[in-house]
Amino acid sequence: MARPLTAHIDLAAIKHNYLLAKKLQPNTKAFAVVKANAYGHGAVEVAKYLDDIVDAFAVAAIEEAIELREAGVSSPILLLEGVFESAEWQVCENHNFWVAIENQTQLTDFIAANIQIDKVFLKLDSGMHRLGVQPSSADKFIELLEHNPNVGEVVLMTHFSSADDLDSPATSEQLAVFDQVHRQFSQLDVSVANSAATLKWQLPEGGWIRPGIMLYGISPFDEISAQELGLKPAMTLTSKIISLREVKDGEAVGYARAYVAKGQRQIATVAVGYGDGYPRMANHQTPVLVEQAMCCLSGRVSMDMITLDVTELGETQVGDEVILWGEKNPVEDVAAHSSTIAYELVTRMTGRAKRQYHS
Ligand SMILES: Cc1ncc(COP(=O)(O)O)c(C=O)c1O
Repeated sequence: MARPLTAHIDLAAIKHNYLLAKKLQPNTKAFAVVKANAYGHGAVEVAKYLDDIVDAFAVAAIEEAIELREAGVSSPILLLEGVFESAEWQVCENHNFWVAIENQTQLTDFIAANIQIDKVFLKLDSGMHRLGVQPSSADKFIELLEHNPNVGEVVLMTHFSSADDLDSPATSEQLAVFDQVHRQFSQLDVSVANSAATLKWQLPEGGWIRPGIMLYGISPFDEISAQELGLKPAMTLTSKIISLREVKDGEAVGYARAYVAKGQRQIATVAVGYGDGYPRMANHQTPVLVEQAMCCLSGRVSMDMITLDVTELGETQVGDEVILWGEKNPVEDVAAHSSTIAYELVTRMTGRAKRQYHS
């Protein structure tokens, strides 16, 4: 029997979530952000499924964009961080990629390459201080790009540091900086919003939103669940019980003997571990479902296995289905019990978990 670990991907849920993003910002066009293998969901499968309905896709790197083109994806694809080497500009023209420019080297190399790009997204550093041109030099970049006959259209873009924190002043401050530059070049289309901003912030009219995590049915907010936002989770990670044993009072389970039985307990071993991307930091309150009944981790997460105390669940057998995360035990909750965020859990899932697609 093959190892039973499977990530079930609900493509129709991803489509629902994309359409919800568009509904929330009705006068905008929307990228589907499919970088990092569509946040672990399988970029080719997701992009092929959405190809007919999306306005465009966005990825982090040219390799990701090439993979989609080679798989037959025909919608426009934006490279969110631009190119990292001058030789890549020619590849962008060949594949008709849209490209972000965020620093002087990229601009200089683009002009020298003398190739045609339909849309250039000029990224402004409005306060995140990670990527982007300074507001004080934005006019020089915009003028050079707008007067360049190789550029079809310039779009002014920025990225928020804290849109998931609705109490933080950072997003309004960034919007004010962005607006000051945009007012001088109001003819330009804009692109500012990630998922959190798409879901909860008042945005400039028109332009392009860039939802990522929400497409996969995951809430970007600590305090608001995906269900409350109307999102449908796209990934259900399942495995099976592969072994069962009784342990006596005082006996310990797993590495470092981190779980010690109080009284006689039944322990189930499940085929999933940190070698698959399941978080090693998951604590003993991390929710796991066995045949739809909730129980918790007991003992350390190993490379290929976890152990559960299933004593309270009654009849339990080898082969019983285990849901590591899904609709009833959202990946956001698993992340919260593992000192991380759901973004990390889904993107770091390895290829050991088979992907099964449902639509
Ligand atoms: C430039 C840019 N836009 C959009 C996104 C999508 O963000 P989210 O997944 O929070 O929607 C990202 C993700 O990191 C990004 O880097």
